[in-house]
Amino acid sequence: MMGFFTAPRICIGPGAIEQLSSLGVRRALVVVDPAVAELGTDRRVREELLKDGAEVQVSRSVRIGPTLDSLDAGAQLAAEFLPDWIVAVGGGSTIDTAKGIWLRYARPDLGLAGLTPLTDLRLRDRARLVALPTTSGSGSEATWTAQFWNGAGRPVEIASRELIPDWALLDPTLPATMPPTVAVDSGMDALAHALEALASAWTTPFSDGLAREAVRTLTRRLPDALDHPDDVDLRGSLHSAATMAGLAVSNAQSGLVHALAHALGPRTRLAHGRLVAILLPWVLEFNFPAAREAYSSLGGVLGATSTQNAGAFADWFRRLNSRVGVPATLAAGGVDVQNLREEMTQWVPYVRGATSFGANPRIPSPQELESLVVRASG
Ligand SMILES: [Fe+2]
Repeated sequence: MMGFFTAPRICIGPGAIEQLSSLGVRRALVVVDPAVAELGTDRRVREELLKDGAEVQVSRSVRIGPTLDSLDAGAQLAAEFLPDWIVAVGGGSTIDTAKGIWLRYARPDLGLAGLTPLTDLRLRDRARLVALPTTSGSGSEATWTAQFWNGAGRPVEIASRELIPDWALLDPTLPATMPPTVAVDSGMDALAHALEALASAWTTPFSDGLAREAVRTLTRRLPDALDHPDDVDLRGSLHSAATMAGLAVSNAQSGLVHALAHALGPRTRLAHGRLVAILLPWVLEFNFPAAREAYSSLGGVLGATSTQNAGAFADWFRRLNSRVGVPATLAAGGVDVQNLREEMTQWVPYVRGATSFGANPRIPSPQELESLVVRASG
């Protein structure tokens, strides 16, 4: 099958933030997570932009788990300020919000919910996008999608190759301010991206290579994030691995873990990375018969005996979860699983309708899906 591979230009390493002053920015709309702004990161961003004489406006209207409504204030600011660059500074919700604001700004004539990947957006007629991730997980700095929820809690994904940022600046001094638990949840999200990309129906040799390297780094180094939270070299490794996983999943597509996570997100009130981490071993176990070859290729990283059967493979990731403090089940994570099961008829259609559901190596029947969720619920 014919495929594509698209990526932003990427600047890696301490000082990558300084690349901001070399982009020729004249009017920058900085979209920043308020929590990140409190740490002074947006001041560093502003200083870099001012070095080249840019005018700067800041939007702090980011919401974690962004809703379509949460784009209104930033889109209004963009329409008034007329930026030639959008600068996203934060985690996945922030970068997705910046993509949504960019789209609303460049194409106010289009509704987000009706877009398809084939819609000609011409975003760069109005502005370009540079992303500075401050967490090491979502990979949104490298992807062509953004996730939102509408007022009814239904997931809305926008997807266009045009949404891939022009630049991703991977400066490990930015995620160095992440609390260790956020580092773990984000890293587990990245690990899920890599594992889902590796077994995806749309995988290519390019996504495979990136996914494998991301799995190797994340499985070996993520537990250290709890013990050595100030190790900038470690944070740099995890930061690059998260973007590699983002590139892999953007180009190969995610799978059932993410189809479930996007449908269940607002219902569980868990952070995306935490929810993904809990679901991961259960989905890997289910997928194993259809993804044996892809998973077995990780034998050199996980140990050959850990990739021999579904139970051993899933247990390897259960042990990793236990080591980094991720609960084994949704119930143990504080989710009202009774409610989740009672409302299954409401959210299962969102799972089955997700693009990532169709790319999963094994498509569950309605009964298999219910059984999987029951087991993951605990
Ligand atoms: Fe994710």
